[in-house]
Amino acid sequence: MRVLAIETSCDETAVAIYDSEKGLLSDKLFSQVDLHHIYRGVVPELAARDHLQRAFPMVLEAMHDVGNAKPDGVAYTAGPGLSGGLLVGASLARSLAFGWSCPAVAIHHMEGHLLAPMLSDTPPTFPFLALLVSGGHTLLVQVLGIGQYTILGESVDDAVGEAFDKTARVLGLGYPGGPALAKLALQGDPKRFVFPRPMRHSGDCNFSFSGLKTHALQTFKKSDQSMQTKADIACAFEQAAVDILCIKTLQAMQATGLQRIVIAGGVGANLHLRQRLTHAAEKYGYTVFYPSIAYCTDNAAMIAYAGCQRLMAGERTGLEIKIRSRWPLTDLSRPLPHDTTA
Ligand code: KG4
Ligand code: ZN
Repeated sequence: MRVLAIETSCDETAVAIYDSEKGLLSDKLFSQVDLHHIYRGVVPELAARDHLQRAFPMVLEAMHDVGNAKPDGVAYTAGPGLSGGLLVGASLARSLAFGWSCPAVAIHHMEGHLLAPMLSDTPPTFPFLALLVSGGHTLLVQVLGIGQYTILGESVDDAVGEAFDKTARVLGLGYPGGPALAKLALQGDPKRFVFPRPMRHSGDCNFSFSGLKTHALQTFKKSDQSMQTKADIACAFEQAAVDILCIKTLQAMQATGLQRIVIAGGVGANLHLRQRLTHAAEKYGYTVFYPSIAYCTDNAAMIAYAGCQRLMAGERTGLEIKIRSRWPLTDLSRPLPHDTTA
């Protein structure tokens, strides 16, 4: 089955075509970073307008890559995300499916992230533990198969990506903050500041990141605010955030008896996190899987893959254009009749 997918949930316009036999055939991405840069964050109205301008030409480009052969289905991100952008993607996807007389399926953005490692050369097999870390979510999920998700832990306040972005803002770094902070942290002295490890002893798999961001702010205000100090604070923040993600992930692995770990979502692009978790997991004999850097952050390839699995299992989304800007991952059902874990 061949599926065209559209992703417009935040500040990336993306279109991809995935074929269950041939793999990824087209993958288009336009980042709105330059558009939002001066506002130091995503402006929802501007994001939606830009998606509206770019998405359809990108569909034409993707179709050109496959010789304009009509797909067998269309997938689109229906949430969670910014409503305006989601509506643009959903309307376009639904209209294309109607015009092509093919089925459409609404995809949960975080399910896309969760399945992104499936696009790699060595994909994980079910079951696994997923550490989903993005700008809006920090989740530890037990994944038994597609649509079979149990949330073991989540952030009680800011998502880890949000904490990276807010701390980067405190340090006067640009938007998006996560990659800028990670880059600056490389020049930091890891011993100068030691940040707390929030909820380390909470006895559950939940996280808290807003205190880390506040700690960074207070440390910065009291400091000489030099470039070296900024790098030292970035380093201390990153160390603490990565450390707590690793501690909780290993706790969840021990509690569930799982053997495989998947890291996905934008913060999954953080090299320090990848290295630390891989190293820590090796000690216990666990295997860590992660998507390539390009498929950690938002993209349509992951939506096309998830859409393809759900469409192949017979799932269909009706003609009405429905989006859910807030959509718990646990509301997703297992696609029937085919069970991918069988
Ligand atoms: O998955 P994503 O592209 O969008 C959402 O679904 O939220 O994640 C974006 C988040 C942002 O908070 C960004 O700062 C963070 O991922 N991020 C990083 C890195 N690259 C992206 N955080 C830390 N280190 C990175 N290298
Ligand atoms: Zn995302």
